[in-house]
Amino acid sequence: MSLGKLLVVDDDRNLVELIQMRLEKADYEVETSLNEEEAIGKVKERVFDLAIVDLQLINMDGITLMEELHRILPEMPVIILTAYGSIESAVDAIKRGAYSYLTKPFEHQDLLLQIQKAIENRRLTSEIERLKGLLGERFSYANVVTRSERMQRVLESISRVATTESTVLLLGESGTGKDLIAKVLHLASDRKNKPFVAINCAALPETLLESNLFGHEKGAFSGAIRSAKGLFLQAHEGTIFLDEIGDMPLSIQAKVLRVLQDRKFYPVGSEKLVGVDVRILVATNKNLEEQVKLGLFREDLFYRIHVIPIHLPPLRDRKEDIPLLVDHFLEKFREKVKKEIKGFTPQAMQKLMLHDWPGNVRELENIIEYAAAMTDSEYINEDLIFQTKVIPSVSYVKPLKEAKDIFERSYLIHLLESCKGKVSEAAKQAGKYRADFYLLLKKHDLNPDDFKQQGKRRTTPT
Ligand SMILES: Nc1ncnc2c1ncn2[C@@H]1O[C@H](COP(=O)(O)OP(=O)(O)OP(=O)(O)O)[C@@H](O)[C@H]1O
Ligand SMILES: [Mg+2]
Repeated sequence: MSLGKLLVVDDDRNLVELIQMRLEKADYEVETSLNEEEAIGKVKERVFDLAIVDLQLINMDGITLMEELHRILPEMPVIILTAYGSIESAVDAIKRGAYSYLTKPFEHQDLLLQIQKAIENRRLTSEIERLKGLLGERFSYANVVTRSERMQRVLESISRVATTESTVLLLGESGTGKDLIAKVLHLASDRKNKPFVAINCAALPETLLESNLFGHEKGAFSGAIRSAKGLFLQAHEGTIFLDEIGDMPLSIQAKVLRVLQDRKFYPVGSEKLVGVDVRILVATNKNLEEQVKLGLFREDLFYRIHVIPIHLPPLRDRKEDIPLLVDHFLEKFREKVKKEIKGFTPQAMQKLMLHDWPGNVRELENIIEYAAAMTDSEYINEDLIFQTKVIPSVSYVKPLKEAKDIFERSYLIHLLESCKGKVSEAAKQAGKYRADFYLLLKKHDLNPDDFKQQGKRRTTPT
């Protein structure tokens, strides 16, 4: 049996062949690559115990290649070969994750010794121990697990704006951590001991959302048997988080704009203006500019909330976070499933690193929960990864009536634009009587005059 699988990458064919010959003699299984692409391809296909990489390759430098390889196999030790005199780069290589370096020309015995040590070292140190080391203070911010530079920058921005009163807009694909970051923002603010109230604006029909947010008077609508305090008041002196704000109906947007401007609103069915002291955080995975163009999102509100946009990068753009997140979720589910799980096999880890994660961190969390529940060995096997039917986290599907209304509105806007606000012409094109067409415009709060001058379009303020 071989002592381990090694990959040797160097553009010097003679040297590569020499190393291969000697290492094979020492009972290692050796594959070689003369260029970077080939090396990356090989590491995608199988798990190596160690790689030996020359610092000066043709297209990439060895350190960059090492980082690419670590994106696929984060645990694989890499030994860097450097030319005499490039000690600085060698030190840099170590800082960036190389196990060690050797200066050419090197003694064959030295190489063997280093390989032995690296492989032994990795076998002894259990994966979990190592990952825990990585999870030092530097990488954690409350419950946010990350080491990627882009997320570090996000966290820096958050520290900077947390104690201000500004509205923050969290943008990012589903499952990237918008909810989590909103909570972190609240906890890092001076309002941390006051309530944090979150609401998903896409999950409720319009009237219910309105009374939930602003409260209502007794008898404001059928079923309102007593008056109720809305979420804005419940969040008084604390923070309110309006999630999926891109799905908020226009009439409610107008009320929220008012709260943003002067922290005042009317509860449903009440004529008494109520004041409130809240920090407002919002999030969406929709393209708000697009929504504004479609007439589904108020432009004035857009500018109000767009002061501090924070973009959460998708997981596929920060794969270096995967090993940390894997450990974090394993820790979480280990207790729940009451099993002695030590970690993932290298093959399983490789599979996790190569996946594109359209559902982002939430998808990863689900995969790990499933694997932890199903495994019957200490190290979770690759066969348990992606066995779950991955249900793409569909964004909320609107009721048909709401979807029709949205379509109807953008249809009308489009029509009025092309007819430059001439109602008789627009009605004719839509196959509607003029009077009926007017009713439609009224329903959607559209004013044909707004379409008379080229390109000027506004929704009448409500
Ligand atoms: N950096 C992270 N560290 C630890 N856990 C995370 C991290 N990012 C996300 N999570 C976890 O992943 C899950 C999904 O995150 P979250 O609900 O915040 O995403 P979201 O962007 O709000 O998604 P959606 O758009 O679908 O509402 C949560 O369980 C959250 O705790
Ligand atoms: Mg969310």
